[in-house]
Amino acid sequence: MTRKAWDGRFKKQTDPIVERFSASIDVDARLAQADIEGSLAHAQMLQTCGILTDAEHEAIAGGLRELAEEFSRGEVILDPACEDIHMLIERRLTEKIGESAGKLHTGRSRNDQVALDLRLWCRDTAGLLDTRLGSLQTVLLGLAQKHAETLLPGYTHLQRAQPVTLAHHLLAYFWMFHRDRSRLADWKRRANYSPLGAAAMAGTSLPNDREMTARTLGFDGPIVNSMDAVSDRDFVAELVFSCSLTMTHLSRMAEEAVLWSTAEFGFLTLDDSVATGSSIMPQKKNPDVAELTRGKFGRVQGDLVALLSLLKALPLSYMRDLQEDKPPLFDAVDSTLACLEAMQRMLETSTFNTAAMRRAADDGFATATDLAEYLVRQGLAFRQAHEVVGKLVARCLDEGRRLDELTTDELVDAHPLLKSDSAGVLNTQASVQSRTLTGGPSPEAVHKQIEAARAALKVWES
Ligand code: ARG
Repeated sequence: MTRKAWDGRFKKQTDPIVERFSASIDVDARLAQADIEGSLAHAQMLQTCGILTDAEHEAIAGGLRELAEEFSRGEVILDPACEDIHMLIERRLTEKIGESAGKLHTGRSRNDQVALDLRLWCRDTAGLLDTRLGSLQTVLLGLAQKHAETLLPGYTHLQRAQPVTLAHHLLAYFWMFHRDRSRLADWKRRANYSPLGAAAMAGTSLPNDREMTARTLGFDGPIVNSMDAVSDRDFVAELVFSCSLTMTHLSRMAEEAVLWSTAEFGFLTLDDSVATGSSIMPQKKNPDVAELTRGKFGRVQGDLVALLSLLKALPLSYMRDLQEDKPPLFDAVDSTLACLEAMQRMLETSTFNTAAMRRAADDGFATATDLAEYLVRQGLAFRQAHEVVGKLVARCLDEGRRLDELTTDELVDAHPLLKSDSAGVLNTQASVQSRTLTGGPSPEAVHKQIEAARAALKVWES
């Protein structure tokens, strides 16, 4: 049996069932590097405050650095008797440098330690998420540039609505991911504060320079309330919320990829390298990346609910419940990073079937609104114009014709203001080209949007 850090007060050893039940080392081992980074800053502060001698500090820092390398090389055995990663690191350090390792925990508790490690881990992870979002945006931007003139129907209610450019459609996702990145930046403004020095929850009477450790670790300052410092997990919930919104965006895109790659739509051909087949039906090619992304959204949303439920009704300050914050956090982040990577690969290898898109845009009365707007330009009120065109659509449906197959005479018959030039607005390309307004789908407007998107991407580079 290993000795516990709290052995002094206890007459009995921990029951093995309880030991297994409460150990978190399998999960929190991922915090090892953050834990060491935090300990290095803490040790340096202890030396400055005169608690550690130079020699003790050197031994502790040297031992911690060695341990960091052992972790990177995957050499450290995760002994469940150590309960969590913090205890394991302390024990390994003691094995390395002897009893002076025991001074490292001066003025510190695992409560502020785990809160610190989590903040450091989340901060790195937010950076990773941002990078992956940025590279997905770059792919979308490249596709938008390529497809500034490609026409397809835009949909509402999944019914053909008005023709748009494919670039416009893809850039809608670009802006969702842009907001995801700005959410992460905003998250950092709130999360980047240090809990270190809050100790168990009420600080310490020993010298402790919280400003110094906060600075060393790149935080914007220490958290101003020691009880808040050890019990706050808002930053975890917020980061997982950011993940779940990114997953929402990915899942919408995934749903479209599933639809578009059906024979019924035929807008998208997935590359063989990102699709799978069926073990029974030889003809099948399935959009698994998109489906799994859609499926994983449910997990991430569940992670968010798990975290919010975990925090609800927890009295101040640290409670062991909080150990349960890590599985949903890690799961949400892992899933989101994996989906970002896989969806990017799917997008950059897929082929957009522009002819099928164009056929769909030409076929489905998508320019009916343009004809109504023509009548408005002739002086008719929009409601009346809507009615006139609605009747023409109904007639075409009855006769199995397209709006642009109506003759000039038939148009004038329907309304005298539908003059001979009115048929021109029914052309798909003319329709898209006419919507040059800011934020519109015309190639002209889309080129401006691409410029705006490029500028938005640059902002994150600086
Ligand atoms: N494994 C714990 C966690 O993740 C570390 C803090 C434990 N603190 C305590 N007083 N038992 O929350």
